[in-house]
Amino acid sequence: MMTRGTRSLLNVLLRSAVLVGVIGVSPALAQTTNNAPAAAAAKTDAPVARPWMDTSLDPSVRADLILREMTLDEKLQLTFGYFSTDAAWLKTPTKNWEFPKDGLPGSAGIVPGIARLGIPSQWQTDAGVGVASQRSATPRLRTSLPSGILTAATWNPALAEAGGAMIGNEAFLSGFNVQLAGGMNLLREPRNGRNFEYGGEDPLLAGVMTGHAIKGIQSEHVVSTMKHYAFNGQETNRFTIDHRIGEQAARQSDLLAFQIANEIGQPGSVMCSYNRVNGHYACENDWLLNTVLKKDWGFKGYVMSDWGAAHSTTEAANAGLDQQSGWAFDRSPYFSEALREAVNNGHVSTARADDMARRVLWGMFSVGAFDTPVRGDRATTIDYAAHAAVTRSDAEEGIVLLKNDANLLPLAKTAKSILLIGAHADVGVLSGGGSSQVYSPNAPTSGLIVPDEFNKGFPGPKTYHASSPMTALQARTGARVTYLDGKDPRAAAAAARKADIVIVFGEQWTGESIDVPDLALPDAQNALIDAVARANRKTVVVLETGGPVVMPWLSKVGAVIEAWYPGTAGGEAIARILTGEVNPSGRLPATFPASLSQLPRPVLEGDPKLDRDAHPMGNYDIEGAAIGYKWFDKTGRKPLFPFGYGLSYTRFALGGLKADAKGKGIAATFAVRNTGSVAGKTVAQVYVAAPGWEAPKRLGAFKKVDLAPGASQSVATMIDPRLLATFDTATATWTIAEGDYQVMLADSAVSIAQTVTVHLPAQTLDSRGK
Ligand code: BGC
Repeated sequence: MMTRGTRSLLNVLLRSAVLVGVIGVSPALAQTTNNAPAAAAAKTDAPVARPWMDTSLDPSVRADLILREMTLDEKLQLTFGYFSTDAAWLKTPTKNWEFPKDGLPGSAGIVPGIARLGIPSQWQTDAGVGVASQRSATPRLRTSLPSGILTAATWNPALAEAGGAMIGNEAFLSGFNVQLAGGMNLLREPRNGRNFEYGGEDPLLAGVMTGHAIKGIQSEHVVSTMKHYAFNGQETNRFTIDHRIGEQAARQSDLLAFQIANEIGQPGSVMCSYNRVNGHYACENDWLLNTVLKKDWGFKGYVMSDWGAAHSTTEAANAGLDQQSGWAFDRSPYFSEALREAVNNGHVSTARADDMARRVLWGMFSVGAFDTPVRGDRATTIDYAAHAAVTRSDAEEGIVLLKNDANLLPLAKTAKSILLIGAHADVGVLSGGGSSQVYSPNAPTSGLIVPDEFNKGFPGPKTYHASSPMTALQARTGARVTYLDGKDPRAAAAAARKADIVIVFGEQWTGESIDVPDLALPDAQNALIDAVARANRKTVVVLETGGPVVMPWLSKVGAVIEAWYPGTAGGEAIARILTGEVNPSGRLPATFPASLSQLPRPVLEGDPKLDRDAHPMGNYDIEGAAIGYKWFDKTGRKPLFPFGYGLSYTRFALGGLKADAKGKGIAATFAVRNTGSVAGKTVAQVYVAAPGWEAPKRLGAFKKVDLAPGASQSVATMIDPRLLATFDTATATWTIAEGDYQVMLADSAVSIAQTVTVHLPAQTLDSRGK
């Protein structure tokens, strides 16, 4: 079976370049790479009082107390982590990598603890949808949430937090106290292979949803790692591409998303990304790490490098990197012996070495990792039944009904025969690939219910979760439900002609390290859907995709559902939506373009054939902060489906909008009424507009509302002043210009129900928006 080493061709090449073109490791370092440094052991006899275990003290005070007792070696031990899988490919003669002592097999890594002082090891696991496994021979079988983009599509922060708490609990019970979760790069590029891990295209929505997910994880005494900081918007050339962006645009887009998530979730850690930003690697980018994150936002936790994203010792340490992760992914163990030398030589100050260790300790204290330590693998106590309900609720609110002609859905109770076609809908639902891969609790020990169809190593195996839409549908309808794989479009069309209703499952598998070439469903799926829809108008398409796709057959089918990657209870969630047991309420967290030509970059930047030493440029100044719907608004383009869009089995009316200046922001109140005949949830959206912004309007606030038929509710929202401001780079402040601001109550980015005007005085806010 494959390991992290057997990646896509590109990544295998890049990774092997990392591993063979390397600096040798000294014998002294070899001693310390897998165990605590000798100096740490020297003090083992002396009993140490532990005043830092007083839980009434602030985490910063506790970190300072413990720091006083630590030797330099001990401090530096906290800044260096090891990959923790049985990856033979890492055991090159020059790397001296061995499976780390106390590492949990098949996990992302470990930073050894210091027993003398009671500092726990940091056991690290991927990722945002649950406890992942680094290899698939005998993966851990755990609950998977739906993809991050689906959770964003719920527009329900409470669900994001509940989901975070659920996966944090599984991480804790599996022996992990660091979860590499909190992915939130804004969706600038619909072809990005990792869009499924993130929160969509809008800084407010992505920031709020990811912030709540982080908060949930950390409620289980597990450090969450907000990532990939920053501008890691595509996988093509991810190790080298240099994304250029002006500071104002940066602060008003991706950085604002991170800033909001940081405020809500207060993550113990932030992971810097592989790419460069404005000429410097993200993990040695003084502006990103020291200025923006630590100074302007007041981040007290630690910055860890992505696996293979560290490039230097002195430069990185002084630019704000606090921990090198996943040795031996990098070319050199920069933060091991070399860092000690740099401190001894004064290239890195002892104050900075203290700061690095203090930040790691702060992150651990702040989530309770000292007070409620993990106790190894206790996976048998995981409450999988309760967790299935959590992941199912998430899926049910994030699945988006995109089209429903003549109320084809919910499925008519009179239907006698329902034909399902494609995407292994008889056995399961698709998941996204790469380091975040979770394997279903009810899967065989290999984790695979369908033999790997990718078969080219990482980011495979292409994995389906064992939650069958067919079984779930059969249990809910009196109809005869049958399945065809769809490989023969003619046979599928012939069978479709005889069925009362046809449901075609269209899939787009995406994964870490590879972008998709275009937005079409791969292989012959579009032709299949076309043929089936011609044979039977009562065709429903259920999409399982990583992000936006185009739909050339849209006018021919009766209904479309975007189910993303719906997680380990996804089959049931899909069935409950199709039958109307659940009323769909998901809304698109990203614009679905009609074609690639509508994008800021019709051709993806960076040539996938370039090697690690090439430095392709990515120009994020094309759209700047005008991402997604903002770009479409600004350029007058009409998307296939707009941001914020989604249908329901009932109808809602929005009205009564009032908006007033409040504090430095705007308070907007309005009423939502369910005017249809079934209960349902909707997402009321408030957009704001003023002249001189990057785009005609911005999302200012949103609220998910749950209403019985005929019921109405008044809703109060606050618009964050930063969403009414522009960032002034000279003073690092947010400036609100005096003038009229349009406040719009809307059902999507293109469907405005009501607009009012508010006059605001000129105001200046500090870098944190206060
Ligand atoms: C990914 C990270 C992940 C890390 C550890 C990297 O390749 O970019 O998201 O957390 O590996 O597995």
